[in-house]
Amino acid sequence: MVMKLEKVVPFGRSLAEYKSMFALSEADLDKTIVGVGDGPASFNAEMFGMGKSVVSVDPLYVFSSDEIEKQFYSVVDAIIAQVEASSDDWVWTYHESPEHLKENRVNVLRRFLSDYETGKREGRYVVGELPSIDFGKRAFQLALCSHFLFLYSDHLSYDFHRASVREMLRLAPEARIFPLLTLMLQPPPYLQPLIEELASEGFEVTVEKVDYELQRGGNEMLRIRTRA
Ligand SMILES: C[S@@+](CC[C@H](N)C(=O)[O-])C[C@H]1O[C@@H](n2cnc3c(N)ncnc32)[C@H](O)[C@@H]1O
Repeated sequence: MVMKLEKVVPFGRSLAEYKSMFALSEADLDKTIVGVGDGPASFNAEMFGMGKSVVSVDPLYVFSSDEIEKQFYSVVDAIIAQVEASSDDWVWTYHESPEHLKENRVNVLRRFLSDYETGKREGRYVVGELPSIDFGKRAFQLALCSHFLFLYSDHLSYDFHRASVREMLRLAPEARIFPLLTLMLQPPPYLQPLIEELASEGFEVTVEKVDYELQRGGNEMLRIRTRA
């Protein structure tokens, strides 16, 4: 798939947000992690700064830092205006207000951009996309995916979701996905069937409440583990 940059909303989240969204423990942070669809999150940059191991995989990384930055600034104000217009759909605890959200997203982007070109050369930002990622079986200990799977259920099929989750579980023995909500703030239609399918195949599947909620109702994570 060739990604069109003008269709992308390059909003990313910070390490603190990743920790809350995925309930990451100190032990989790020491694992080798693949962040699928990390986009312009500063998770990788911040983790790298702490000596931790993250590889981020995203089709966005075909673009240069200048292109990603330009795209961010071309959409940020319109998106924050949309958020302001639908303020009741958002929970203003972690982020206190739409202005604070914008400030956070700008800071995250800056942190990401400061690391991106070097990280790309070091193989920490890799161009790739679900449902097929070019790393070997069990190349990582933990696979994370935030704000992509389930969120875009209106645009991506059940088969795509199933293949993508299987791919995450090929890359790592444990996968976590957040949030369990569509863009319309609805329960994702594929969630329950996928849970049942994975459970029937012997995976340990749990839906867990986490300490992060920005989209109203988006405070749950899916954890899937391969049984030992
Ligand atoms: C809303 S952003 C989320 C970024 C980051 N995970 C976060 O929460 O801050 C969604 C990301 O999914 C990426 N994406 C789109 N199609 C993808 C695919 N097939 N596989 C993996 N990532 C994809 C986009 O490029 C974008 O960076």
